[in-house]
Amino acid sequence: MPNNNTSIVIPTYNERENIPELLERIHRSMEPSGRPFEIVIVDDDSPDETWKVASLQPDSDRVRVIRRQDEKGLATAVLTGIQAAKYDIVVVMDADLQHPPEKIPELVSRVQNGADIAIGSRFAGHGALEGFSPSRRLLSKGAGLLARTLFREIRSINDPESGFFAFKKSVIAHANLSPVGYKILLEILVQGDYTTVSEVGYTFDKRENGVSKFGVKNAVHYLRHTWSLFLRSGEFHRFWKFVAVGGVGAILNLAVLYALTELGVFYLLAGVIGIEAGLLSNFFLNRSWTFSDRGTSGLRYTLTALYRDHAVRVVGVVINLLILYLLTSLFGVYYLTSQLIGICVAMVWNYGGNQWWTWEPTS
Ligand code: GDD
Ligand code: MN
Repeated sequence: MPNNNTSIVIPTYNERENIPELLERIHRSMEPSGRPFEIVIVDDDSPDETWKVASLQPDSDRVRVIRRQDEKGLATAVLTGIQAAKYDIVVVMDADLQHPPEKIPELVSRVQNGADIAIGSRFAGHGALEGFSPSRRLLSKGAGLLARTLFREIRSINDPESGFFAFKKSVIAHANLSPVGYKILLEILVQGDYTTVSEVGYTFDKRENGVSKFGVKNAVHYLRHTWSLFLRSGEFHRFWKFVAVGGVGAILNLAVLYALTELGVFYLLAGVIGIEAGLLSNFFLNRSWTFSDRGTSGLRYTLTALYRDHAVRVVGVVINLLILYLLTSLFGVYYLTSQLIGICVAMVWNYGGNQWWTWEPTS
């Protein structure tokens, strides 16, 4: 029986100075609703003894502290907290007050009102990433683009990397979760079962006490995490289907060129027909196999997708030729090596185009 009460999961590492104000502000924001809630702090055996400070706080029957001594890491700490949570709605937030506790009731009420996941999103636009250096901003943008290309389900979400969100525990009941690093929400969005996501804007405050644990190793963790999600989510499988279909297209292209030329057709014309045969084979195989989950049918849709796919792949050919030229003539690379690199880059381009555009619904 869903009870609609809330467990607030907070990972901590060296946050002792932030604990008193954090707990006080959570209490003040949660109390008016009168609903039961609990706070689950998951501390990775902080040298500053955050675990001890937290368990000595007043109202300690509502606050549970889990001290992990065997494992470290934000995302797995959050998972530990979620597993320990006793209520059906779980809120995840940082301890350093960069996530305003005053926003929790709004996140929770979105879930109570039907959203499966409610995300606290750092405001879109400028000034949103307060306290982020330009390099971290750029990194964050690039990482976001990569994830959005691979995982379509997060494309319409403004802040899939947020560390501040609420969700129904049922979302992850059957999910295979195995995050690395920081991005627990990304993991839940790609692997969880849900239909409705709602976003609540908030300002990511400056950290007043303690230091961020974010560092170069987080960028590495992020890439490892994205890669592992790529494998586990089935998107890797999709990519290989796309490559295999491209291989079939290339063979067909050569076969048509050969057959028509042998039959007496001028080789350049035969080449054009061969290329088009390859494009059509790619298109129809991708439609019924690689991207069969995109619910693509109807004549109008097919024509639009066909046009889009051609547009994408023509640009792909230009990219391929450009790389062949630049690497060979400007950098002295052996022309076959240049071409191989060109083919790979064009393939990534084509895949991106298919993911972002070709198989999207027509408006
Ligand atoms: N248990 C545990 N173990 N907690 C950790 C660890 C760890 O290894 N590393 C960090 N934390 C805790 C911190 O104590 C803090 O409460 C929270 O996780 C966030 O850590 P910060 O180091 O302050 O992260 P940030 O401010 O750079 O980034 C945060 O906010 C972003 C925007 O919402 C993170 O939540 C990001 O995931 C998020 O994108
Ligand atoms: Mn922080």
